[in-house]
Order: sequence, then structure tokens, then C-alpha cells
Amino acid sequence: MPAGRVYLETFGCQMNELDSELVTGQLRSLGYSFTPDPATADVVLYNTCSVREHAEQKVWSRLGELALRKQTEPGLVVGVLGCMAEREGDALFKRMPVVDVMCGPGELDRLPSLLDNALRTRSALVAEAASYQYADAPGTSAREFALQGSTSRRSSTLAAAADNLELLDLSRAISPTDHSGTAYVRITRGCNKFCTYCVVPFTRGAEVHRPPDHIVDECKRLADAGVIEVTLLGQTVNHYRFEHGAAVLIDGLVQPQKGRVYTHKDGVHEDPYRSSGAGGERVTTFADLLARIHDEVPAIKRLRFVTSYPRSFGDDILTVMREKPRICRYLHVPAQSGSDRLLKLMNRGYTVAEYLEFLDRARAFLHQPEIGRPLTVAGDFIVGFPTETDEDFEASKALVRRARYKNCFIFKYSPRPGTVAIDKFPDDVPENIKRRRNNELLALQNDISAEVGQEFVGHTVEVFVEGISRREQKVARRQAPAPAPASAGIALTVGGKSLSVDRAVDACGDDHGCGGTHIESDTPELDDRLAVPEERRIQMSGRTEGDVIVFFDCPAPQKPAELIGRVQNVRIDGNGGLSLKGTLLASKRHESSFIDR
Ligand code: 5AD
Ligand code: SF4
Repeated sequence: MPAGRVYLETFGCQMNELDSELVTGQLRSLGYSFTPDPATADVVLYNTCSVREHAEQKVWSRLGELALRKQTEPGLVVGVLGCMAEREGDALFKRMPVVDVMCGPGELDRLPSLLDNALRTRSALVAEAASYQYADAPGTSAREFALQGSTSRRSSTLAAAADNLELLDLSRAISPTDHSGTAYVRITRGCNKFCTYCVVPFTRGAEVHRPPDHIVDECKRLADAGVIEVTLLGQTVNHYRFEHGAAVLIDGLVQPQKGRVYTHKDGVHEDPYRSSGAGGERVTTFADLLARIHDEVPAIKRLRFVTSYPRSFGDDILTVMREKPRICRYLHVPAQSGSDRLLKLMNRGYTVAEYLEFLDRARAFLHQPEIGRPLTVAGDFIVGFPTETDEDFEASKALVRRARYKNCFIFKYSPRPGTVAIDKFPDDVPENIKRRRNNELLALQNDISAEVGQEFVGHTVEVFVEGISRREQKVARRQAPAPAPASAGIALTVGGKSLSVDRAVDACGDDHGCGGTHIESDTPELDDRLAVPEERRIQMSGRTEGDVIVFFDCPAPQKPAELIGRVQNVRIDGNGGLSLKGTLLASKRHESSFIDR
């Protein structure tokens, strides 16, 4: 069976971006090719997100369009991957018979065989229809699926069977030419916290921690391929913990280990995360893991992690962050609400006072603007959670003021099927109030972001250069003879010379206040030739270690392509609120002023 031409679109979080990268590598190695244009694909895959209804609606409407297309292209194979597949199960096939393949986030290692079967079944159905001279396309889908259901929560599962998903992570295809200097590395899968609004523990399953050797090896392989910035991923990274005495070996391979359950007694979370094992057993904690990656892979110039949980973030982690110069002084630590009453209804397991105690402690350890290393913090808030009063909302505003975030992701509460909140608490805050609170909190955060940005003006910061700014792309498109695709992948010609640039970055256009954290994914196949006059200075963008976006012009005769994927010194001259503007100083390759000093 010949492999197909695949269009893969990713929705949602960084974890999904990484999953899509792994799936792409896996399918490429089996002979599939990828296209950035869905119209030319014979396999269309959506890697979906279920955290809010809005993200799912986008996928439903895409599937509706594909249903029309399939009437004239019966051979088209359509797959839904990720959380929506896991959450909807069979109901998705029923509602959208256009779907041939469904694969949950915990089963992605099985995607190649599902796709192969679907392609075979589809072509057999098409051939059958042709032989009977049917006017219409075959009505049935190929119906291949792999979902975890509730099996991942059975205590015996991991002990009994090899974790094949780990093999998918281990098989990651890392090519020296196919990255932009930065990469995600998963350390933990799933979540055990069961915040009452959240669907993740049901779609991504129980928390498991990858063996530290696997993580360190992956970082080494990335560094060998030229990656200099690594972001460690997990739902609650600071709860990473691997007990070596309890390690299970299957077929010579150390298996990921189940996380501890964050128990909850009389409204108080018990804290199973301690720095070392009881009775002296060998444990790798998150602090140990950070230190290992930092020390064993010095070629990684920036080491970041998301997302942190505000409880059990020990001084051991803060100490490692302070002592190891290549660990970024950046925290993404969602608060969700500034009201203790709502935090309790959300089952978050901390109070506002405890959250602030953590922020103050983290700043005491890490906030050193005088040496050019401030600690920047990003937060998440949900507005309009059931029963939220004006008073509760005012408490969230007070927390935003006090926390002084660099940026906040602000979400309107979206009731999710299967969660505790949808069953227990009616969604009683009207949509217009949710919207008003969302906008108000965003406006407040924007003022604070501008104040935080102002602290950088006049200082020189280190910037990891990510690409050509989106503004620059728009200018280039306006001047280009042919229309450019709506994708980030781009190649510019400057003064007749072609520049291969995989990505362009700018503040995200969504209204949730991400501060541009959404990076568009690489699409290296794209090879548009957009003309930029030689005399024009090309605007580039990148990020500080604290994840603040910085724009600067590439000075002649410097070539933009020489800067991308490297750390450069930029003097900050202006502050645009969610981003900074600066001037590139004498170009440096890879090193930075304080790193490795
Ligand atoms: N409604 C709105 N926002 C949600 N989030 C998670 N679940 C929901 C929901 N049901 C937000 C939280 C979380 C972020 C990833 O998404 O703020 O931190
Ligand atoms: Fe969802 Fe809470 Fe887990 Fe975050 S910690 S993924 S909000 S359940």
C-alpha cells in the first residue's frame, strides 16, 4: 500500500505540538510525505484539544467541510487525533461519519497501523463502488480507532505492560536541518490533580514520569543536532519524581513510572512530593532532573519548563534555578482564581496566601534585575467559574495586581463533559458577564505587562532569535507577486538571494492574553519566494530568557538566517506593552554575557 500525502493541523497546547512532531517523524520514516495545503492531501489529520469548547468547535466545522469534500473525493482519509478523539469516542464517528481514524493522545504509537488499515479499507471501498458504478461515494468510513478509555487509570496497567508511548518518544526523529534551534521535551504525561473544571486527567490519563535517563538522552540528541533551547513539558512539572528502586524493566527498557496521587483530606491536599526518598532510596526529583540536564548537556544554552503547579514547588528547585546559569528565570504558574472560595470549588488545593507565598519565595531566590536576570512569571486565570460573584472577580483582579505577571492567559469558563464541575455546578455566570470580566482582567494585565516591560528599557538582554517577524512577512507578502500561504513557513529572497526561514513569530492574535506564546509550527516544505528589497532592514523577533518577545532589525550586512536559532545581545529601546523593541548589539554566536561566566 503506498503511503499517503498528509496534512496535519494541530490545535491547543505545547504538548499537542510535540505529539504532532512525533507523529510527523514517525509517519515520514514510513514513507508518508507532508503538505501544508489540505487541498492536496490524501490524508487529513487534526490533532485536537478538548480543554475548552471553542477549540472543539473549530474541529467540528473543519470536519463538516471535509464531509462535503469527500463526496467528490471518496478516497480521502480523515483522522482525528488527541483529546477530542479520546473524549468523544464512538460519538464522534456517529456525528461525523467522514472520520475514518480516531487516535487518543495515549495511543499515538498505534497511528501508523490505524492509518495503513484505513487507507487500505478506503481504497477497497472506492474500488468496490467503482465496480458497481455507484454514482455516490461509499457512505461508510474506514473506522479505525485506538483510545485509552479508562484503562490508563487502572493501577495495574503500567506495571503489566510496556508503555508503548514511551517508545514513540524514544523514536523521535531528530535531524540537524529540521529544527529552529528550540525543542520541547516531555518529562511527564497525564495529570492526577482533577481540578473540577479540567478534562485533561480524563483525556491524557494518569500521571506518568519518564525515566530520567531517557529525558537526558533526548536532550543530548537534540543538542547534538544543534538545538540550543529546550522546554521541558508536563502538566505539573515540579511534581516530577522517579523512584529508581521501583523502576520496572520490560524488554531491557526502563518504563515510565506512575505519579503519586495528590490526595485531598478535609479540603487540604496532602503533599507526597518530598525532596528525597524515604529510607534513603534513590529518587530523581524535578530539581535533580534540571541539574542533570544542565550539567550533562551544556550545549543547551536555555532550559525552560512548563507548567508549574503552585503547590510543592520546593526551595530545592529554586536553588538549582539560581545556581545553574542556563536555566531560564521564567515560571508559568497558573493561579486560576484569586478567591479562596472558588479555588476550593476548583479543587486546586491551595489558598491565595499560599500562592503568594510561593511567588514571593521564588522572587526572593531568582529576581535579580540588577544583573540583567529578572524573574518573569506568567499566569492562567479562569473567569466566570460557576457561582463567581463580583467580589470573587475583584479578588482575581487583586491577585493579578499583586502577582505582577509578565502576561496572563485568561479563559472564560467552559463546562466540559465528564468533569466534576459540569455535574456539580450549574454554569450560572452569563456569557456577557464572562466576556466583560475576561476583557477587564485582560486590560488590567495589559497595563501590568507594560509596567513590567518598562523595567527592561535601557538594559541589554539576551534574545533567542526565533525568526522573521510576522509584520515583516506581511510586508513581504504585499510586495510579492504571488499570494503567500497562510502558514508560518516562509523563505524570503533578499536582494535576489534566497533565505530559507522555517518560522516567523509574532504576538498571537487570540483574545486570551497569551502574550504571543503561541509559536507557529515549522513547515519546512514550504518554499515561497517573497521578495524584500535589499535596502530594507528586516524585522526579526525572539524571546528573552523570561519569555518576553523582543523585536529588532537585522542590521546590514548581517544576514537574518545567520541570527535565527541563536542567542544574541539586544539593547532594549522601547516597550510596546506585550513586546519590547531593541537594537541588536555586536553579534555573538551561541554565547551570552552571563551564561557560562
Ligand atoms: N474552562 C476554561 N478554561 C479552562 N482551562 C482548563 N479547563 C478549562 C475550562 N473548562 C484553562 C486553565 C488551564 C489552561 C490550560 O486552560 O486556566 O490552566
Ligand atoms: Fe487540568 Fe488541574 Fe491537571 Fe492542570 S493541574 S491539567 S488544570 S487537572
